[in-house]
Amino acid sequence: MRNGRSSEASTTVSDALNRDTRSIPALDAGMPAREFAFTQEDFTRVRTLIYAHAGISLSPIKKEMVYSRLVRRLRALGHGSFGTYLAYLESNSGEIEGFVNALTTNLTAFFREPHHFEMLARQMETTPVRPFRIWCAAASTGEEAYSLAMTACEVFDTLAPPVTVLASDIDTHVLRTASEGIYPLERVERMDKQRLKRFFLRGSGRRAGFVRVRPELQALLQFERINLLDNRWPMHTVFDAIFCRNVMIYFDKETQLRLLRHFKPHLSPGGLFYAGHSESFLHAAELFRSRGRTVYEHAR
Ligand SMILES: C[S@@+](CC[C@H](N)C(=O)[O-])C[C@H]1O[C@@H](n2cnc3c(N)ncnc32)[C@H](O)[C@@H]1O
Repeated sequence: MRNGRSSEASTTVSDALNRDTRSIPALDAGMPAREFAFTQEDFTRVRTLIYAHAGISLSPIKKEMVYSRLVRRLRALGHGSFGTYLAYLESNSGEIEGFVNALTTNLTAFFREPHHFEMLARQMETTPVRPFRIWCAAASTGEEAYSLAMTACEVFDTLAPPVTVLASDIDTHVLRTASEGIYPLERVERMDKQRLKRFFLRGSGRRAGFVRVRPELQALLQFERINLLDNRWPMHTVFDAIFCRNVMIYFDKETQLRLLRHFKPHLSPGGLFYAGHSESFLHAAELFRSRGRTVYEHAR
């Protein structure tokens, strides 16, 4: 897990950007002296750029968080101010990746929101299609995607179940961690011991203190960088289950609705869409209807 920070609330960006954030000057009061000046204008530019490139609607109260995440890019690239960094970013599309990677929040865990994995197990048992296709659309460092693969192995009682998992994220840094499948021991310490034994290898020597997911599990997964905001996604696949959890909260309602329209043709007729614990799609009732705790199916 990188950026183990709590999620920020999503405000609609048009609301947020139209709001004069200079009306909250107390924001900087009492803050320690910064290495680089970070003006309100710099912050507004960052918010506009991250909204344009990732759909992330940054709350106006996140100025400190943004500073601490971006300052590393300035140092790494040798910029003396946010002004020069942002000018560089605006004229070099190559830096967009580093900028987006720095600003995403990647909090995740194995078997997070466990009721979804129980529901998925029932879905796999009762859906006859093989292979059963799953898309993990905001996979972060991979814990969610490997939890999907482990659930599949348990349902079919084999390390080679007829299941495929597409694990995607916009952040290339977390995707690298996901594809390596190596985690510090504490990430799995609360996992059922049977699971741990069956699906992980314990590191030794310079890998002591780490576990690695079994290669059979990795073989079920395909990793790809996909920006959910893009008008075209690189695949035409229809999935039986889409896990898109704890990412929609970063998007405003308008973006969420656009995304849900985009997701719809990628979900099979009897398929299920699994959302995060605080994500509700009541505003998209013509597209999806509830099938239980933050699980959705086609409305028609
Ligand atoms: C809080 S993590 C959620 C991880 C996992 N789904 C879970 O629930 O544990 C949110 C993830 O969404 C990704 N993300 C943010 N904006 C995205 C976008 N436009 N397209 C794809 N992924 C995005 C971030 O990089 C981050 O890894």
